[in-house]
Amino acid sequence: VEETYVMVKPDGVQRGLVGDIISRFEKKGFLLKGLKLFQCPKELAEEHYKELKDKSFYPKLIKYITSGPVVCMAWEGIGVVASARKLIGATNPLQADPGTIRGDLAVQTGRNVVHGSDSPDNGHREIAGTVRDGFDAATEASDGFDAAIGGSLCGTQ
Ligand code: GTP
Ligand code: MG
Repeated sequence: VEETYVMVKPDGVQRGLVGDIISRFEKKGFLLKGLKLFQCPKELAEEHYKELKDKSFYPKLIKYITSGPVVCMAWEGIGVVASARKLIGATNPLQADPGTIRGDLAVQTGRNVVHGSDSPDNGHREIAGTVRDGFDAATEASDGFDAAIGGSLCGTQ
């Protein structure tokens, strides 16, 4: 089953939006497989956004992501990588559709509340660098949960 990495950025944590964001993924039918509140080290932020290194806003971006605790999550489910990006909405919150996280909760690209992996490979890489410890433990625990609900939510196809 596919997995993706979702991170509530420092503004989302500070504004008390973690519950709302988690709730949207839960209601959609995805399964939470790992979660951690942590202060992103500068080195990890630089690694995470390395494709944007040459952009003019890059120094501001690193400062933003490291400005306070973030909530990192691993989510699992059918089509979760693309679906998470849809639930999150466009990078610029003013262009994000109402009903999406950014469309409902933000107005600035530089304070857009949440990150979602743009590919399954990046999802694995980003989970490995953050919540993998919790994820492995949770996978065992939620295997029992999957069996109990007949696999209906996270789906085995
Ligand atoms: P992420 O899920 O965070 O990766 O966002 P994204 O995939 O929608 O956009 P992208 O990867 O292109 O950019 C990563 C992040 O850099 C964005 O989410 C913004 O926080 C920030 N960013 C992108 N473009 C701008 C910009 O023009 N100005 C500022 N200040 N920040 C930007
Ligand atoms: Mg991106």
